[in-house]
Amino acid sequence: MINIQYNQNPQEIKLREKSKRPPFKWAGGKDRMFKRYHLAGFFPEAEIETFVDCFAGSSCVSRWVRKNYPEAQIIINDKCLELIDMFRFMQAPTWSYFKRELEVHFLKYANLSVADRKKYYYEQRDIYALQPGLLSPVQQAATLYYLLITGFNGIWQTSQNFNYRYATSAGLQTMNPNGSGFDMNRIKEFSDFISTVALTSDDFEDTGVYASPSTWFYADPPYRCSFSRYNSAGEFTDVDQTRLTEFLNTCADKGAFCTL
Ligand SMILES: C[S@@+](CC[C@H](N)C(=O)[O-])C[C@H]1O[C@@H](n2cnc3c(N)ncnc32)[C@H](O)[C@@H]1O
Repeated sequence: MINIQYNQNPQEIKLREKSKRPPFKWAGGKDRMFKRYHLAGFFPEAEIETFVDCFAGSSCVSRWVRKNYPEAQIIINDKCLELIDMFRFMQAPTWSYFKRELEVHFLKYANLSVADRKKYYYEQRDIYALQPGLLSPVQQAATLYYLLITGFNGIWQTSQNFNYRYATSAGLQTMNPNGSGFDMNRIKEFSDFISTVALTSDDFEDTGVYASPSTWFYADPPYRCSFSRYNSAGEFTDVDQTRLTEFLNTCADKGAFCTL
């Protein structure tokens, strides 16, 4: 058993490596918050055994944790099944297939005019959302990744008309095809990281199975009064916010370290 506590003197934490920004944007993503979290004593001094990212989104917080606690078991959970499926195909056993499919999209992007890139985006979005059966599972994962980096401001919108899958409009389509968004080395680094974690796409309460005195739960739920429907995870109501508080109290009663 370990005794996890807030760090009282954050200056003394030896940061093993600063965070790298995730290769795609995510609404509510904490990628710019690393320094603030660190100075607020977010990182416990003790080595932790298990870290549970209950609402992982871009998973950038888990990435900080991996850098700072290389031995920890990390559980990345998000109720958005399409996101977790995309991460699954980015893991080592299927990375080369994912990469090949993504390169097809990148090549198209590089060779099209801005107007044709827009057309291509909408074609791909409509296939992904409305006719997913035309794509293999790995093609779906790579197409979603492509849509996330070329869609409007990295925002994930859904609606009934798009089967609650993905409805975001096209972004400007003026990004440099040799720029950082398309940098395969950067995406591979993310793949290397995601290959070291366990993935689940459950409601946050189901992660309670990991509650123990050596577990650190991190909860970054959808904000109150944000989009009523975030993505396929559905609405997160005030009843859910209360449910979350009770859930974390129960985990804390079992000795877990909980951060909200
Ligand atoms: C504020 S975002 C998390 C951002 C993340 N920390 C990051 O840095 O990218 C909230 C996430 O909660 C997920 N979510 C919504 N309802 C959920 C639920 N009941 N259980 C688990 N995840 C849920 C959404 O899909 C969304 O990715």
